[in-house]
Amino acid sequence: MIIVTGGAGFIGSNFILDWLAQSAEPVLNLDRLTYAGNLENLAAVERDPRYRFERIDICERDAVLALIRQARPRAIVHFAAESHVDRSIMGPGEFVRTNIEGSFALLEATRAYWGECTPAEREAFRFLHVSTDEVYGSLGPNDAAFSETTAYQPNSPYSASKAASDHLVRAYHHTYGLPTLTTNCSNNYGPFQFPEKLIPLMIANALAGKPLPVYGDGLNVRDWLYVGDHCTAIRRVLQAGRCGETYNIGGDNEMPNIEVVRTVCALLDEMRPDPQGPRERLVTYVRDRPGHDRRYAIDARKIAGELGWRPAETFTTGLRQTVRWYLDHQGWVDRVQSGQYKDWIAANYSAR
Ligand code: NAD
Ligand code: TYD
Repeated sequence: MIIVTGGAGFIGSNFILDWLAQSAEPVLNLDRLTYAGNLENLAAVERDPRYRFERIDICERDAVLALIRQARPRAIVHFAAESHVDRSIMGPGEFVRTNIEGSFALLEATRAYWGECTPAEREAFRFLHVSTDEVYGSLGPNDAAFSETTAYQPNSPYSASKAASDHLVRAYHHTYGLPTLTTNCSNNYGPFQFPEKLIPLMIANALAGKPLPVYGDGLNVRDWLYVGDHCTAIRRVLQAGRCGETYNIGGDNEMPNIEVVRTVCALLDEMRPDPQGPRERLVTYVRDRPGHDRRYAIDARKIAGELGWRPAETFTTGLRQTVRWYLDHQGWVDRVQSGQYKDWIAANYSAR
């Protein structure tokens, strides 16, 4: 079996749903259920005997170790993190706590468990750390895309805390021989993304006829990847990645923010026309994010060449599916925005 941390969040829940659809292997989901954790995302598998959830803070090393010892996983896939740059600017403390101290506690628990395994189990074990391209900092318009050897230059409290966790993972491999893998992925989009991030926020606001807040001049560039493609990349790295290595994952889909917002508006206008006219009228330029990274771009040749991974979706196909998903799941968005999703545990589990 495998353990996933942060499996109630956006990417973690997509990963668990995909995993259980493609493999017979059980999954234990360890999640603290912060504001970003939503068990409703996993409603489709909550009765699946291969799936189990434990509410736990990864900073609680001893309790985490007890769960790992009981589960005896052959791999741990570590998603749990504070993940929103704007929140890290407002309050970096939680980012240091979960992303650095939490990753450290999880590594310590993993090292203790791994040390108790049989030689064959130790050999087969993997700790896969899910990280971000933001650790590399910001690119100029003509700079080469981030490769695995690009120097780290994190600029936000979020990216600095993720960079610190990447370094800890590297050190645990180098010093203790822990069989680690690290992935650094570009911006994801798709189902179950919390509507504080660019794409789901724009969809929700556009449908509500609210302003679409574009930071600065709207020309910051991100390299967008459909979340399902991130999940296939992680599975592939887990299966065949070389221990101690890092793999960049990206969609080869660089796009300025304003173009992303315009494309979202055009798709909504097509799928659910607004009698008041095209949604682009709602675009509102607002004060820039402090320290806003200008451009991210991923050179994904290593994972393509070594592991044969390529994204299945283009931005056009992935964004269309995503807008359709949000249109079909407005109840999910409403419950997230009203805070009602937090009642899910009580409503769903109290009678069991
Ligand atoms: P998310 O914010 O949607 O979910 C994070 C999950 O972690 C939530 O379920 C939350 O409850 C849980 N969590 C937070 N603190 C915890 C703690 N102390 N103990 C246990 N659980 C805790 O994040 P996401 O967008 O799904 O990102 C998942 C991972 O992927 C993160 O490590 C992030 O850095 C990385 N990543 C994200 C993106 C992206 O575009 N979203 C891109 C590249 C990498
Ligand atoms: P975001 O989804 O927060 O991801 P990240 O900051 O990790 O890249 O933001 C993506 C881009 O969109 C980023 O350049 C900031 C910008 N942005 C806006 O212009 N308006 C918004 O309301 C948000 C949330 C983001």
